[in-house]
Amino acid sequence: MPDLTVRVWRGGADGALVSYSVPRQASQTVLDVVTWIQRHLDPTLSYRFSCRVGMCGSCAMTVNGAPRWTCRTHVSRLGGDEITIEPLRNLPLVKDLVADMAPFFDKWAEVGGPFVAKEGVATDNGFARVEPASRDRQAVDAGIECIGCGVCYSACDTVAWNPKYLGPAALNRAWTLVNDRRDGARTERLTAVSGDAGCHACHTHTSCAELCPKGLSPTLSIAGLKRATALATVRGEI
Ligand code: SF4
Ligand code: FES
Repeated sequence: MPDLTVRVWRGGADGALVSYSVPRQASQTVLDVVTWIQRHLDPTLSYRFSCRVGMCGSCAMTVNGAPRWTCRTHVSRLGGDEITIEPLRNLPLVKDLVADMAPFFDKWAEVGGPFVAKEGVATDNGFARVEPASRDRQAVDAGIECIGCGVCYSACDTVAWNPKYLGPAALNRAWTLVNDRRDGARTERLTAVSGDAGCHACHTHTSCAELCPKGLSPTLSIAGLKRATALATVRGEI
């Protein structure tokens, strides 16, 4: 098998792609490729990772034009002998493959990302139990496995057109909490997502759902928020 030709973005926003030759290895992931370059060819290459097993969400990059979690993206599945690796789009670039995630997480804060315990739902032992088989719990389960990787945000055309748009992940988080009957900030959360940069700005391109490595559908979450905010508006709640 020939070595891989790997083009990697180097520098800041005015940087350029630099080509490296990387040997193939068994079960090699894109993150392995980036690590090999840093360990053997250029120790100044900057990139981000932590768990290497698809849990932390920190290793996302643009691979052959699409955002992906690189620790779970196998080179063999990409096909061919050439790979182009760039930082996530729609985010400021720090250096090389490191995007600044601040705007992404700031939007989680804008929608009220943290859970707010509702008074009176806890039982005597301090737990507010939601039965695993209940519809409420299943509605929460549909979006709760988000690992904050930013793949959906990077893939989203609406974010590219309108940088203020809250984006798929933050809206998915808001919908997850709106469905949580133990949460006490429903009205505030629906208000936060109902503005010009909120759920109604989504054009339903579905890139987020197609590329989410956890198999979530922010598109469906956003559709849920559109219904919930419309209903809350008619009822005069927001
Ligand atoms: Fe990543 Fe999916 Fe969460 Fe978006 S919704 S941040 S793609 S895990
Ligand atoms: Fe943690 Fe890839 S390194 S998800």
